[in-house]
Amino acid sequence: MSKKALLEIDGKKYELPIIKGTEGEVAIDISKLRAMTGGVITMDPGFKNTGSCHSDITFLDGEKGILKYRGYAIEELAEKKSFLDVAYLLIFGDLPTKEELDTFVSDIKDESMVNEEMKDILDGFPRAAHPMGVLSALTSALTSFNPSSVNVSSDKDLYKAVVKIMAKFPLLASWTYRKNQGYPMNYADNSKGYVENILQMMFRIPTEKYKCSSTVINALDQLLILHADHEQNCSTSTVRIVGSSHAGLFASISAGVSALWGPLHGGANQAVIEMLDEISNDGGDVDKFILKAKDKSDPFRLMGFGHRVYKNFDPRATIIKKAADDLLKELNIEDPTLKIAEKLEKIALEDEYFKSRNLYPNVDFYSGIIYKALGIPSEMFTVMFAIGRLPGWIAQWKEMRANQEPIGRPRQLYQGKVDRTIK
Ligand code: ACO
Repeated sequence: MSKKALLEIDGKKYELPIIKGTEGEVAIDISKLRAMTGGVITMDPGFKNTGSCHSDITFLDGEKGILKYRGYAIEELAEKKSFLDVAYLLIFGDLPTKEELDTFVSDIKDESMVNEEMKDILDGFPRAAHPMGVLSALTSALTSFNPSSVNVSSDKDLYKAVVKIMAKFPLLASWTYRKNQGYPMNYADNSKGYVENILQMMFRIPTEKYKCSSTVINALDQLLILHADHEQNCSTSTVRIVGSSHAGLFASISAGVSALWGPLHGGANQAVIEMLDEISNDGGDVDKFILKAKDKSDPFRLMGFGHRVYKNFDPRATIIKKAADDLLKELNIEDPTLKIAEKLEKIALEDEYFKSRNLYPNVDFYSGIIYKALGIPSEMFTVMFAIGRLPGWIAQWKEMRANQEPIGRPRQLYQGKVDRTIK
């Protein structure tokens, strides 16, 4: 392949360098375009064709259904590693040795409390507030209670900030739910593992001993791994761009939570369960809703089907489908909504409309089902997604700062009025 791309504007020719990624991806480097051409820019709303950074963290190929973290296939990581192994891999670049993992786990445990005054902030929210809004605000508030983590100047301080947010974020996430339910706030039990603590902080009530099976813990662990990073998606790009102004790690992650909240991004898993409930409340006629989804005059879409990037299959959905099947079997759950999900999946996978458009169940279809089977309320689904995505956000923020990326500042094409005067 040629090393230069040729661009011609008004008869003038410009050579633009072509750069290649390690997985064979090709990019035209337009970073000098304005200087070369005297002000010409490129237009790409939604950044569908625009690379914003060089990254060593995650590779995905939507056509082939490939997802890798730091070069490891997601299938292998989900089968053989724990969420904290994967978090370490994403953030620090390599899988941890046993000693490195033990230190990481113990350092996270050392940070598993937050300042009690954080509860005053939580108290200020109405009980019905959406947990994602509360989580974003509390994550941002952490900055004030941990000023040394705002703008770190050494690797040691950065490491400290990383373990602080890894420890405190799931605690705050659980508090958003406890507040909503009117329950007292829980802290982690440091004799338990990271994922088990997420569940017990959320669900343990003072009058009962909390028990959860290893099936449940493993299913959640795997789900968190599958959500841990997905390269430059909306929330991750947000974290990077906020951090590019040299805002601190916690403030940048708070912005990522807000970006993830939207139904076009992390909110889809909640929409899946709401759709299944709608079908159930309507009498459970799945065929009727399949017809609605195919009817172009009807805005209804099958939530949890289709993906912007994965057009053949979503590799995460393949893994998670098996986990969902195993979990439902092992927990022996009889839930009419989950029966509807099974029926819907079967019909849609055999239907010509869905087959011809490559519309397969995506990761959110099955994650919604697993969360429901685990007893997690639907308004907490996106919060669970945020806990899973946290290591990815940290890794991407850390890489952006290490690469000394310039402040993110896109251009625009002004199409408004010109030269008006006040009469
Ligand atoms: N149900 C019915 N028809 C659908 C669906 C669906 N879920 N998704 C796409 N289609 C149809 C479209 O109507 C269109 O049909 P046409 O070619 O006859 O006009 C065709 O399939 C292509 O659809 P687009 O909207 O062009 O596909 P796009 O890549 O832009 O959208 C998206 C992808 C947004 C995910 C879409 O499939 C969708 O809305 N799915 C439901 C919501 C969802 O599950 N989102 C979660 C995505 S995963 C994640 O974010 C982690």
